[in-house]
Amino acid sequence: MENSSLYKPYKPYKPYKPYKPYKLSSFSPIFPLFLYYTMIYKKIVRPVLFQFDPEAVHNFTMNMLSIGIMDNVMRPFYHYENEKLKVKVGNLTFRNPIGLAAGMDKNCTALHAWDAMGFGFAEVGTVTPLPQEGNPKPRMFRLPEYRAIINRLGFNNHGADEFEKNIHTAKEDLSNDFITGVNIGKNKRTPLEEAYQDYKFSFEKLYEYADYFTINVSSPNTEGLRELQQKKYIDKILNSLQQLNKELDRIYPDGSKDIFLKIAPDLTEQEIGDIIEVSINNNLTGIIATNTTISRESLPDGVTYEIGGLSGKPLKEMANNVIKFIKDKAGDKLAVIACGGVFTAKDVKEKLDLGASLVQMYTGFIYEGPFAVKKIKKRMVKEK
Ligand SMILES: Cc1cc2nc3c(=O)[nH]c(=O)nc-3n(C[C@H](O)[C@H](O)[C@H](O)COP(=O)(O)O)c2cc1C
Repeated sequence: MENSSLYKPYKPYKPYKPYKPYKLSSFSPIFPLFLYYTMIYKKIVRPVLFQFDPEAVHNFTMNMLSIGIMDNVMRPFYHYENEKLKVKVGNLTFRNPIGLAAGMDKNCTALHAWDAMGFGFAEVGTVTPLPQEGNPKPRMFRLPEYRAIINRLGFNNHGADEFEKNIHTAKEDLSNDFITGVNIGKNKRTPLEEAYQDYKFSFEKLYEYADYFTINVSSPNTEGLRELQQKKYIDKILNSLQQLNKELDRIYPDGSKDIFLKIAPDLTEQEIGDIIEVSINNNLTGIIATNTTISRESLPDGVTYEIGGLSGKPLKEMANNVIKFIKDKAGDKLAVIACGGVFTAKDVKEKLDLGASLVQMYTGFIYEGPFAVKKIKKRMVKEK
């Protein structure tokens, strides 16, 4: 891993100005400025939310969003679409290239909210065949001075049965042009040799509802999972899924599903090269680059950070190197969905300029707030 040129070239990430909790005393005199919506989030909502445990805030927010009463209030505020934003990838046309990354909506309870917020697509999951609790708490940590998060959740989710019920209900109410990706993983107790069975199980169960599938073999918080990125395992998984894809294609009317593989940013060039080869041989639509990193090289030395996957700004350059490598090697044979450190339109542009077709955000969404999606889309149209 250390010998890889992909792994080295970035410098420790420069900290942002220290994060200052918002002081209520400054509220009244400058109130009109706060009407500017992004400020409301950054100056009021975020500081309040950041007073509480990250996972508790996540669960609270997800509960609020899943009720759905805010959708019609949100939609006019967040709505902004333009022909210039449309992107075609595989068999799908995305109304815009900004997506929600996997892990935010693990049980598929708030699809309608992501649609209302103006995302072009949302990737729900990671879902595993059986429900599982994940790792002991606490397991999610904010690093506000670096605009980052560390998590070691470990695929906590309610399992494929409940997921199926949720996605079935949710799909009835979505905009026609909103794309739903389903991110599937293996249960913790499933041995690596049998992992492909877990992927097949969820693939078949959720086939009818997914516009595309993502095969997650790259989360650092399930022991051994990332070993599935090795040629011998990944070939078996992708091959058996594509066979199933063909069989199910005959039963369901809307054609075979696009499949993406989500990879880690911590791989060597050799390992990514192998993955590209296997992905092309198995007719994958593309690769999602990337999941969180186990590296702490982009953070300053001498500070003890929690164990888990690091996301946000410190991941950006590393993930960008992976996009560049994939596009250099695979060209148009594989599409790239870029993920890692997207906060602004500039971050999106960097990734698209490297050859990515779509982008996803998770950490940037937490720090910038939901209006970031509209802001990014408006800027993109202005610059086109
Ligand atoms: C709290 C948290 C949970 C996550 N859970 C998942 C997951 O279940 N499946 C997955 O493929 N990626 C998961 N991710 C990774 C994100 O989808 C994304 O790849 C990563 O965070 C990098 O993007 P970002 O810098 O925009 O956050 C998770 C990330 C975070 C921060």
